[in-house]
Amino acid sequence: VEAAAPVLDLVDSSVSLLWEGYRFGSRRFARAGADLFDTRLMLTRATFTYGEEAARHFYTPDRLTRKGALPLPNLALLQDVGSVQVLDGAEHRHRKAMFLSMMTPAALDELVALFEQEWGEAERRWAAQEHVVLLDAVHEVLCRTVCAWSGVPLAEEEVPERTRQLVSMFEGAGAFGPRNWRGQLLRHSAEKWVRGLVDQVRSGRLDVDDQRPLRVVATHRGLDGNLLSTAVAAVELINVLRPTVAIGRFIVFAALALHEHPEQRARLTDDDALRAFAQEVRRFYAFFPVVGGRVAEEFVWRDRSFRRGEWLLLDLYATNHDARIWGDPEVFRPERFRERSPGPFDLVPQGGGDHAATHRCAGEWPTVRLLERAVGLLAELSHDVPPQDLTVDLTQMPTSPRSGMVVHVRA
Ligand code: HEM
Repeated sequence: VEAAAPVLDLVDSSVSLLWEGYRFGSRRFARAGADLFDTRLMLTRATFTYGEEAARHFYTPDRLTRKGALPLPNLALLQDVGSVQVLDGAEHRHRKAMFLSMMTPAALDELVALFEQEWGEAERRWAAQEHVVLLDAVHEVLCRTVCAWSGVPLAEEEVPERTRQLVSMFEGAGAFGPRNWRGQLLRHSAEKWVRGLVDQVRSGRLDVDDQRPLRVVATHRGLDGNLLSTAVAAVELINVLRPTVAIGRFIVFAALALHEHPEQRARLTDDDALRAFAQEVRRFYAFFPVVGGRVAEEFVWRDRSFRRGEWLLLDLYATNHDARIWGDPEVFRPERFRERSPGPFDLVPQGGGDHAATHRCAGEWPTVRLLERAVGLLAELSHDVPPQDLTVDLTQMPTSPRSGMVVHVRA
């Protein structure tokens, strides 16, 4: 079969990607009039794809490997050698089962209850302050919540530092240079902290309930029957702590959506409405731009052969904004999720795939649960939004309202 993908940017596009941000893919799909194009990133040939059909191919079992799928400095921040993100096949299924064992319905109920409690206490502190930068404030609430939920002891005076360490790991991930280095540096101190916790659990110096993530990673055994190395166990716990704090971005986007669409508030009358609003926030706003993989099993799509080792990227942002799926993608309209339920290959802010088989993000359910609860809490929060720059700059990855969303909370 002849290679038939349009080739754009014969020169390396890494700089354009950083310059253009989330819309890098969408613009080129439009220009090519196709749902795939070839380009070069980090001097390597890469094929960008988007849409439901592309996602279906991307998440066909065993078709792609995650080994070698991300450029290095970003890999070091977001995933690690030996961690779940770079495993394939049986080893991956076994490690993923470890994560899913933490997400029982009772555990998720507890997570939401802890979040509500932390939010309530934070609300009292916010009301005593002149202004609150919601992004920072919510990150802190989530750091307290996920530490309590995971069995991680967190002294009051540690809260700002631990929050900063976890936040910098995803804020630096889309960057090269200083912001990424800062992330690396803070990551080393976070790993040291968490490795210490794993050691304490293993030596019996720290007692943690059975189901809690800290205990789960410390006692998990691989397919070879061995405990994870301390380093890998620490990375896997960070794989729970870091993305849970990252849900703060979606919560701030929800606050922004409520601010910009005040008519929506009155419609948040039941759980279905909260769920639909949360899903539309995950679809409409931008978080992870793409997921990548290397072809492990050859396949043909759009008259084009994908050969072993080729680098394939699925554009998540473009898929969440695909007019073929959503009709009016640039309109924020939660009602669309009352008319239809999201499928495994259309709403993909946390990657696609069947939950039972190929979906990789272990945190989609906790994210939806916490976000819908946060929407309810935000709708009830008496607050003003003073004039400020709320621009969501799509050339920044990850992005957020430029001001971090400053609010004045009334007692
Ligand atoms: C993987 C996004 C929340 C745990 C991923 C991936 C994305 C993603 C895009 C890669 C998916 C793929 O390769 O197909 C997000 C976003 C979140 C979020 C936007 C919300 C802010 C969470 C939470 C947890 C979590 C709350 C855990 C409590 C993981 C893990 C992986 C992962 C362990 C690696 C899975 C693997 O490679 O097998 N996430 N996630 N995520 N996520 Fe999430």
